[in-house]
Amino acid sequence: MHARAVAATTTALLGTAALLLPAPDVRAVEVGEQPTVIAHRGASAYAPENTLAAVDKAAELGISWVENDVQRTRDGELVVLHDDNLRRTTDVEERFPDRAPWKVKDFTAAEIALLDAGSWFGPAYAGARVPTLEQFVHRIDRNRQKLLLEIKNPALYPGIEKQTLKVLANEDWLDRRHMSKLIVQSFSADSVRTVHDLKPRIKTALLGTPNVADLAYYAQFTDQINPSYSTISAGYVSAVQAFTGAHDRPLEVFTWTVNDAESARRVAGYGVDGIITNTPDVVRDAVEGS
Ligand code: G3P
Ligand code: CA
Repeated sequence: MHARAVAATTTALLGTAALLLPAPDVRAVEVGEQPTVIAHRGASAYAPENTLAAVDKAAELGISWVENDVQRTRDGELVVLHDDNLRRTTDVEERFPDRAPWKVKDFTAAEIALLDAGSWFGPAYAGARVPTLEQFVHRIDRNRQKLLLEIKNPALYPGIEKQTLKVLANEDWLDRRHMSKLIVQSFSADSVRTVHDLKPRIKTALLGTPNVADLAYYAQFTDQINPSYSTISAGYVSAVQAFTGAHDRPLEVFTWTVNDAESARRVAGYGVDGIITNTPDVVRDAVEGS
């Protein structure tokens, strides 16, 4: 049995979890033999990243967890896009040639809705749009999937944590049922802490590879430490998991972005709890039975 499964079973037998947890069910991650597989920006090796097509592709592959990136438009709409500018993944330069440097924060939601976010990836996806956060969570719900939501570049968007939680609440994503389907992450510890302070029941994750000496501080407001796979070892993973996180369970590790079978098997061997990947089918098949 996976070491984390033993830990979870022990906790359940001791009967302490119900007394300690403020959340209805923060164990969003299925504890079991293999790490949870998360489709990075959707199944982004096969469909344009952060589009509804990439979410649907993950669903087609049988992948329930999807990661995304959330940013804000000039007029205050939350949209799903990785870069802080629109150049790489849309036709913004053609459509708005005089608007360099084409930052997300300099365009209105209506302008962004006009952009083609699929043709750069391939003609089959021509006309795909940059989704709003509302559209994205609707699709995740329709597909019965789960969401690892990244607040991207929060320093550019003051108050984005509160706004993100408001959108999620409006879309019924902060009810008891969805609490087990949602993790909010960021590279900014301040942003993660803000989310935790605003809604302590939400499971959170800090992106990066912090020093073990700093983990006791981060564990006050986060449940996961999510590092690049190139930065970790079995020793680091077990050092993280030895800490108790914000919901009185061992800190978890979801690592990124692992796109080949050999690397997936290696990090599974380190004991990670989740693998974030552009090729979720490849990783799932690689770690099955690991
Ligand atoms: O979820 C982990 C990963 O998405 C963090 O890096 O740059 O792909 O958002 P990035
Ligand atoms: Ca991301």
